[in-house]
Amino acid sequence: MSVSPGTALHPLVQAAGREGRLPEWARCRSARREHVERVTALLSAWAEELGLPERDRVRWAAAGRLHDALRDADPEQLRELADSDGPDSLLHGPACAARLRAEGVEDEDLLRAIACHTTGHPGLADVGEYLYLADFLEPGRPYLPEVRERLRSILPSERREALLSVVGLRLAHRLEVRGSIHPETVAFWNRLVEEGE
Ligand SMILES: [Fe+2]
Ligand SMILES: [Fe+2]
Repeated sequence: MSVSPGTALHPLVQAAGREGRLPEWARCRSARREHVERVTALLSAWAEELGLPERDRVRWAAAGRLHDALRDADPEQLRELADSDGPDSLLHGPACAARLRAEGVEDEDLLRAIACHTTGHPGLADVGEYLYLADFLEPGRPYLPEVRERLRSILPSERREALLSVVGLRLAHRLEVRGSIHPETVAFWNRLVEEGE
């Protein structure tokens, strides 16, 4: 369930979205903070271009700022918070969402956006889809600069096209390294394909 438009934003969401302040429990090194700010800048630009109301612009900026808030936390602590036996690299999103929920954040679309920003998920709302895109497309990443620049240039309007490309690139990489593929990523891909049928 999404939080209704009239509900006040949680103080942690306000602080992250409006003032760029992370919770005191965040563990995010300074180089990572630069990535987080680039992700947030993309999300804020897209939210403005889409003409979203101020409240959603704050939520989108908060999604960017909070998504990697526990990226540099101790894996054992993350595993406990996320209640998962998955690989270390997939723990920080679910752990951060669990921590925010424990702090009283009830915005399910925002929580899922943060929890699933690495794998994608068929139930992602707009904020989650655009966070997934921004995390991959922010200009500071070294790989595929031209492809990623082209995808940034078609956003925010061509959401589905960009999502198919990014999920496709990430799936192709997993196949190339013969890595496992998260079932939610496959379900996300299938939902995007079915949207066009
Ligand atoms: Fe992340
Ligand atoms: Fe990230």
